[in-house]
Amino acid sequence: PRPGWSRDADVVVIGSGIAGLTTVLRTRAASPDRRVLLVTKALLDAGSTRWAQGGIAAALSAEDSPAEHLRDTLVAGVGLCDPAAVEVLVTEGPARVRELAALGARFDRDAGGDFSLTREGGHLRDRIAHAGGDATGLEVERALIAAVRADPAVEVLENALVLDLLMDQAGRAVGATLHVLGAGSQDGVGAVTARAIVLATGGMGQIFASTTNPAVSTGDGVALALRAGAVVTDLEFVQFHPTALWLPSPEAGQQPLVSEALRGEGALLVDAAGRRVMRDVHPLADLAPRDVVAKQMSRVMAEQGVDHLYLDARHLGAQTLLRRFPTITARCREAGVDPVTAPIPVAPTAHFASGGVRTDLWGRTSVPGLYACGEVACTGVHGANRLASNSLLEGLVFAARIAQHISEQDTSSWDGSPDPSASPLDGAAAVIGVPAGARGRGLTDPTERGDLTRAMTDGAGVLRSAESLRATGKMLAGLGDLRVSGATVTAGPAAWEMTNLRMVATALVAAAQMRTETRGCHWREDFADRDDEHWSGHVLTRLDPEGE
Ligand code: SIN
Repeated sequence: PRPGWSRDADVVVIGSGIAGLTTVLRTRAASPDRRVLLVTKALLDAGSTRWAQGGIAAALSAEDSPAEHLRDTLVAGVGLCDPAAVEVLVTEGPARVRELAALGARFDRDAGGDFSLTREGGHLRDRIAHAGGDATGLEVERALIAAVRADPAVEVLENALVLDLLMDQAGRAVGATLHVLGAGSQDGVGAVTARAIVLATGGMGQIFASTTNPAVSTGDGVALALRAGAVVTDLEFVQFHPTALWLPSPEAGQQPLVSEALRGEGALLVDAAGRRVMRDVHPLADLAPRDVVAKQMSRVMAEQGVDHLYLDARHLGAQTLLRRFPTITARCREAGVDPVTAPIPVAPTAHFASGGVRTDLWGRTSVPGLYACGEVACTGVHGANRLASNSLLEGLVFAARIAQHISEQDTSSWDGSPDPSASPLDGAAAVIGVPAGARGRGLTDPTERGDLTRAMTDGAGVLRSAESLRATGKMLAGLGDLRVSGATVTAGPAAWEMTNLRMVATALVAAAQMRTETRGCHWREDFADRDDEHWSGHVLTRLDPEGE
C-alpha cells in the first residue's frame, strides 16, 4: 500500500518487550543526541515479557559462576548453541540484571537483601531472579515502561503494525512501512525512515492452536525479515512448555502458564493415578530440560490416551503457594482448581521460538541497517532448546550491545553492516528457500486462520514426521489469497497478520522437513535419534525470490 504519511528518526525500534524497551533506554543513554522512535503493534505492555513468570537466569550468587551457567546452557542447546554468544550472555548477564534492578525493577530479595534465587529445569544452581513471586515479567515491563515514559525525548507510536522494510538500491534497510490505528495525523499506512532499524517484535506462538504467547505474537518480525531477504535460522526449534494450565474447553490462542519455578520449589508431575511421570527418566527428574519433560509427558499422554497430566504442588502448602506463586494460584482458582488442595491439570503448549532472524554478536542481521533482538532474533544462545529463564536475559544483554554498536557509529557514515568476517551462511547444514508463493499473490485470507493453527499443532507440533509435515505444508500452500477468495475483509491488520503467520509457518515446516533427526525440541517420529554426522549445523532459511 502507498504510505499516506512519513516521518524520520535516527533509530526506530519495533516492539516493546524487554528487548525493545532496553534498546530504547540504552540507546538514549549512550547517544542522547539520537532521535529514537519506538513503535509497537498494540499497547506498550501487550507483548510476551509481561507474561513471563519464572524469572531471569544469571550467575548472581557467590556459589554460582558464569562458567556454570554457560555449561548448563550448552547442555540444554544439544550441540547447536554458538559458544561465543553464550559466553557473552552469561558473562554480561549479571551486570545487566543488577542495572535493571537499579533502574527500578523490584526483584524479590532474601533476608540479607540479596536476590532471592530459585531453580528451573536444566539449571544445576539456584540462579533465577524473580519478582512479585511469579510475576517477574510484569514487574520488569512496568519498570522499563516507566523509564521510557519518563524520557520525553523518546517518541512512542502504539497500535502500529509494521508491514515491510524500505530498502535502498544497495540492499540496505532504510525504514519501514506501518499500519497505524487511531494516531491522528499518522493514522493509516505510513512510512518511517531511519539510519538503524531494530526488530524486537517477539515470537510466533500464535502459529499454533494453543500457546502461552499473547495475541500479538504472530511472527511479524521474522516474516518481514524474510521478505527483505534476511537469513533466518533454527526455525524448527519451537519450545513447548511442559506445564500450561489445561482447561476443559479452551479458547484457541493464549493459555495460562504454570511456571517451571513451581517444580523448582518441589512440585511433581503425576498422572491421574498419582504415579510420578519423570521419575527414572532423567537424572534431574522433574527438573530435566524442557524438551525432555515435554516429550515424556507426550509419551505418557499417548500411552494412556489422555490429553493432560497433573502438577502436584499440594505439599508446598498454602503459605508457600500464596507467597511465591500468587498469580498462578489465583489463575488456577479462577479455573476451578485450588492448587492447595488439588493437583493442577497441565499439558505441553507452544512457548518459545529458539530460532529467528540470524544475528552476529552485536545484533546485526544479514541485511545492512537491520538489527534484531529478543525472541525474534537467533543470536545463537539457545541452540536446539532454550534453557529456562535465559530469554529475558538474552533480551537485556543483546539490547545493550545493539545500543552500544549504534552509539559507536558515526552519523554521517552510519554503517550497521553485518560482521564482514562471518558469512551469514557459516555453520549451515542446509540452506533452504521459502517459496515466495508463501505470501500468495497478495495478502492471505484471515478467515482461514483457525485452519492454519490447527494444521500446525496437528502436523508440526511436539511430534513431527515426514507425513505430518507434508500434510501441513500442503494445507499452508492451499490457503486462500485475500483477493482471489473474494472475502469481504479489507487489507487491514488481520490480513497482514495472517500473511505473516502463513509465511513463518511455511518456513518452519520446510526447516522441520529438512532436519531428519530428533534433537532438542525438534522431535521426529520417523528419525528418532540425534544424528551428529549430518545435522550438527543449522538450517538456514531465505525467501526464494524465484519460487512460486
Ligand atoms: C516459566 O516460568 O516456567 C517460564 C520461564 C521461561 O520460559 O524461561
